[in-house]
Amino acid sequence: MAKALEGIRVLDLTRMYGGPLGTMILAELGAEVIKVELPGGGDAIRTTAPLTEGQESYRFVALNRGKRGITLNFHTEEGRRICKELVKKSDVLVENFTPGVMERFGLGYRELEKHNPRLIYTSISGFGHTGPSRHRVAFDTIIQAMGGMISINGHPDSPPTKVGSAIADFLGGIFADLAILAALQYRSRTNEGQFIDMSMQDCVWYITAIQFLPYYLATGKEPPRIGNRQLEVTPFNIYKAKDGYIVIGVVTVAQWHRLLEVIGREDLKDIPEYYSQATRIEHTEEIDAIVEAWTKQRTVDEILKLLNDADLACSPVPTFGQVANDPQLASRDMQVEIEQSISGKLKMPGSVFKMSKTPSDATQQAPFLGQHNADVYSELLGYDQKTITQLQQEGVI
Ligand SMILES: CC(C)(COP(=O)(O)OP(=O)(O)OC[C@H]1O[C@@H](n2cnc3c(N)ncnc32)[C@H](O)[C@@H]1OP(=O)(O)O)[C@@H](O)C(=O)NCCC(=O)NCCS
Repeated sequence: MAKALEGIRVLDLTRMYGGPLGTMILAELGAEVIKVELPGGGDAIRTTAPLTEGQESYRFVALNRGKRGITLNFHTEEGRRICKELVKKSDVLVENFTPGVMERFGLGYRELEKHNPRLIYTSISGFGHTGPSRHRVAFDTIIQAMGGMISINGHPDSPPTKVGSAIADFLGGIFADLAILAALQYRSRTNEGQFIDMSMQDCVWYITAIQFLPYYLATGKEPPRIGNRQLEVTPFNIYKAKDGYIVIGVVTVAQWHRLLEVIGREDLKDIPEYYSQATRIEHTEEIDAIVEAWTKQRTVDEILKLLNDADLACSPVPTFGQVANDPQLASRDMQVEIEQSISGKLKMPGSVFKMSKTPSDATQQAPFLGQHNADVYSELLGYDQKTITQLQQEGVI
């Protein structure tokens, strides 16, 4: 079946987590993604544990499926010249070097747009290409801290705590994809490429500020670390049950009333302070205590049955292994099997893009280092095998 991004070629200079996720999504959606790596070692994630029996990194494979892989050394003049030739044949370039690195190679946007004015050049960096922090290197936890995420995460008395998944890295890649799709749409109207300056700090701040900036501005106070509670709605928490924990979330008045009926506290319906969220939130602790007094007397299964029957939002707190075997996720192909040239069959996360006319494909293999050198350099630049071998011997590819 057709893919949404068929016909779009992406030159992928990204490494590590966020950039590679972004370009892998473009590949899942049908773009031809050519991952460019430094000969000799390539993306540092290639060597991170856990490794397959064939010594491939599971995580590298998880982040680079569906890409063609080539090597190219920008430290050589010939490597930089070849990069410009590849740029002429590409629609999109994505890189996540520290700002300034590509300019030092003579491969910054100002130079590359001369070779291809339709190029959509995407730079994902920790802090962006402008402002006082622009030259700083950055990893996920640094950006979670500098984007404000760590300031509001965790329990009031816990030390600073990051979100478990590398959310800052991944947000950078995902927001970059949104910008790339918008830029492709703009280019189809105007025939013009552009420069996308994606800052991971901007991304984390953006999703943190949407929820927490209103509180800060309205009260003039630091937003508290609230553990599993919500800042604006209650009851909404993880409560103790007899044999585990249960998540309950109540937002509307109707849900609040249904919860009171289920827990046998209809007497609370008419208490004015409890009626709306705006005033109920002032009484979070006493309301959480009322709900937990009820949940503590029952097992997780009993509570789930009662709350589901009343159409209330609730869930247990499964382990990672239980989620990995969740029948709902399985029914939506959220784990797929791929066939790697070196490692054979591997299980990988499936695709979130369920599209009726242009379904995505998360089952393609990730390249080993330089796997597609011969194909790409001959198809795109017309090099013969002798030239390719010579470039390899000279350390250019
Ligand atoms: C990820 C990061 C911390 C890595 O730091 P770093 O390894 O010092 O990388 P820099 O971007 O500063 O420089 C790139 C290096 O890769 C080398 N490199 C990578 N691919 C290359 C290629 N194809 N040819 C030549 N050199 C290459 C560069 O030469 C340079 O090394 P050098 O300084 O020894 O010459 C940094 O790139 C960064 O902050 N990126 C933006 C934020 C980000 O993406 N963070 C990770 C999120 S998962």
